[in-house]
Amino acid sequence: MNWSALVLEGERYAPRMTVLHGKLAKGGNYVAEGPDTSKSTWLLFSPATPDEAGSLARFLGIFSSHGVNLNHIESRSSARRPGYEFMVECEHGSGDFGAALEDLKQIAGYLNVISRDYKDNLSTVPWFPRRIRDLDRFANQILSYGAELDSDHPGFTDAVYRARRKYFADIAFNYKHGQPLPHVDYTKDEINTWGIVFRKLTELYPTHACKEHNHVFPLLIENCGYREDNIPQLEDVSNFLKDCTGFTLRPVAGLLSSRDFLAGLAFRVFHSTQYIRHHSRPLYTPEPDVCHELLGHAPLFADPAFAQFSQEIGLASLGAPDDYIEKLATVRIASIPLTLDCNLMT
Ligand SMILES: [Fe+2]
Repeated sequence: MNWSALVLEGERYAPRMTVLHGKLAKGGNYVAEGPDTSKSTWLLFSPATPDEAGSLARFLGIFSSHGVNLNHIESRSSARRPGYEFMVECEHGSGDFGAALEDLKQIAGYLNVISRDYKDNLSTVPWFPRRIRDLDRFANQILSYGAELDSDHPGFTDAVYRARRKYFADIAFNYKHGQPLPHVDYTKDEINTWGIVFRKLTELYPTHACKEHNHVFPLLIENCGYREDNIPQLEDVSNFLKDCTGFTLRPVAGLLSSRDFLAGLAFRVFHSTQYIRHHSRPLYTPEPDVCHELLGHAPLFADPAFAQFSQEIGLASLGAPDDYIEKLATVRIASIPLTLDCNLMT
């Protein structure tokens, strides 16, 4: 990836430093803010002249004088001009960040801001993960959260179902890259719901699913416990996909933004829910659930061409402006072969 190509030039730096503490916003369908570490800001800057001696000390002095803590400091060759550049990660909410930026502008050759808080800052590049473990930073920044169901959700009035959804949401919320995917003991009702969906879809696959899907599905039965009376474990499916194409699954507590979902694909990671739809309407779900993920999406990630395509869409999304993200999300959906995906599942 040409990292520097994603950095935008600009003159205005006005980061809005909102301090949030991992609380869930009010409302039935809301954004769960993650820990402050997920909102740290990255700065990329160079000395004014390529051979300037002692520049790092001067830059660090600025952060120190304004009380801005740094979590990461990196020097490297500049891809934009002769010499080197620095990249630092500033701890969210520490010190007078705006004043530090103003001072940096005075002595830096160039300065770019990379942040998840980019909406009102034209010169800021949207933050994007550079390593697979960076996915931990946004996996809990979701558009809806487990037990909080909309009033028209089939499980809205079912306290047992809502408690169960909270259980699944908490599992995913606390998951970190590198951990085994949490094993879930599904209840009899949940397995029964899965069975209804499984029977219906396996009837339709031969005539409605693409050949890539139909090629893979028997392998999932053979290797991952896909059966009418068993909901496969994400860990088993993830291991299988990893052997096929390097794709892995990661549990997610609810809906991610398009930007975050696509960023996962860049690392061959598919964010997958683990809960199941409400038993009262087994052939309908207003949101992705484990049936949707494992019977609709997961099989194609075992196909090398589809895996490559998905990753390339993901790579193109990293650091891209919002309008590009929406186009890429549309291209992805429009280009997926007609598996029994979103439309037939809901
Ligand atoms: Fe889908």
